Amino acid sequence: MVKRSALVIIGVSVGVAVGVVVASLVFFAIRWFRKHANLQQQANERSLSTVPIRTDDRGTSFDSRASFSDSVTIKVIDHPAKTSQHLWWSHHSKDKIAPTSGIPRYPYKDIQKATQNFTTILGQGAFGPVYKAKMPSGEMVAVKVLASDSKQGEKEFQTEVSLLGRLHHRNLVNLVGYSVDKGAHMLIYEFMSNGSLATFLYDVEKRTLNWEERLQIALDISHGLEYLHDGAVPAVIHRDLKSANILLDHLYRAKVADFGLSKEVKFGRSNSGLKGTYGYIDPTYISTNKFTAKSDIYSFGIILFELITAIHPHQNLMEYINLAAMSSDGIDEILDKRLVGTCNLEEVHSLARIAHRCLHNTPRKRPSIGEVMQAISKIKQRHMGKKNVLSLTEDDFSSVVSRIESQHVEMGRLTSIAERA
Ligand SMILES: Nc1ncnc2c1ncn2[C@@H]1O[C@H](COP(=O)(O)OP(=O)(O)OP(=O)(O)O)[C@@H](O)[C@H]1O
Ligand SMILES: [Mg+2]
Repeated sequence: MVKRSALVIIGVSVGVAVGVVVASLVFFAIRWFRKHANLQQQANERSLSTVPIRTDDRGTSFDSRASFSDSVTIKVIDHPAKTSQHLWWSHHSKDKIAPTSGIPRYPYKDIQKATQNFTTILGQGAFGPVYKAKMPSGEMVAVKVLASDSKQGEKEFQTEVSLLGRLHHRNLVNLVGYSVDKGAHMLIYEFMSNGSLATFLYDVEKRTLNWEERLQIALDISHGLEYLHDGAVPAVIHRDLKSANILLDHLYRAKVADFGLSKEVKFGRSNSGLKGTYGYIDPTYISTNKFTAKSDIYSFGIILFELITAIHPHQNLMEYINLAAMSSDGIDEILDKRLVGTCNLEEVHSLARIAHRCLHNTPRKRPSIGEVMQAISKIKQRHMGKKNVLSLTEDDFSSVVSRIESQHVEMGRLTSIAERA
């Protein structure tokens, strides 16, 4: 009897032990599987962050085997520790189809129809021509035809579109569609009816943007850039911020264009290996070949000075800025002549101070986009506050005048009554 119960106890103990071992195995297997799946997902996300669209300097062909320096590249902010993994995945991502971002794809013939066979050209950039188009829904759009040939992988292009299509903000020129068909690669953007900020600053035929509009434009750009640097996941460095890439809508509100596309700077006929536009490039990037969010801040500083002075960076803007920095009110000397007498100089000085900080030689000492945004916002608020006070005094003045006028009328009435009596 004792022997039998001992056997039962041993049997139960062995059973429990086996159960515990099996349960632990299952538990660890699940943990391992989850961890593995997470790693894979993170790596896939990273692989989306650097996907090149390639183009050559004649602007006519894409080459999927070209080196990175020949490419138009989506660039995200890298954390140094992650770099090796990031590169590993970017090399192994070629065969992966990107998750869709809900950006509609159009056949070539639809774009041909929408652009009336590519008749109305809005401009020509380094990537190719930009055409005005009307979609079947009636929406006006701008179609950027990327210089390409059929070598460009469709998947790579779709991956790029997926990344760009995920970025949505009211101060970004949003991508609304794309086409990859018959060897052509096209990006379809919302239409910005007032064109580029550069045109408004430098084309004498355009009307002058007043100070308040310029302040608002600076603030709008800072919002768009803040979204790219701090809001987007993964974060995006623009790499080609310039007044030609700031577009204005019908209310002259600004949106940042061409984020995600960066082209190579050319010196003479040869490529420099650097990305961006001459005059806007952070000198530290030139010397170190490291592009960071602070390099975008540098370019933004240049745009702020363009808004203040209307001097193009290709027309020695930096020299003027350096000269102006030698005296406390030096900036007044280089203020856009069209603004003289129409704006508050204190506000101009405050904006110039922010712009100076953006151009600091040491990238680390440049402000973050969040700081720049807050500083511009304060100037704008002060401006609006003063305007309200001014309009209040104007209101008060006109109400006093109308009160005096009505008293005059009343006096006249009383006098005529007295005369009649
Ligand atoms: N979404 C848009 N809405 C209206 N016009 C646009 C739009 N996108 C571009 N354009 C017009 O097309 C012109 C060419 O733009 P594109 O971006 O190709 O070149 P860029 O910015 O002038 O130079 P780069 O090639 O060096 O970036 C711009 O000057 C602008 O006037
Ligand atoms: Mg552009």
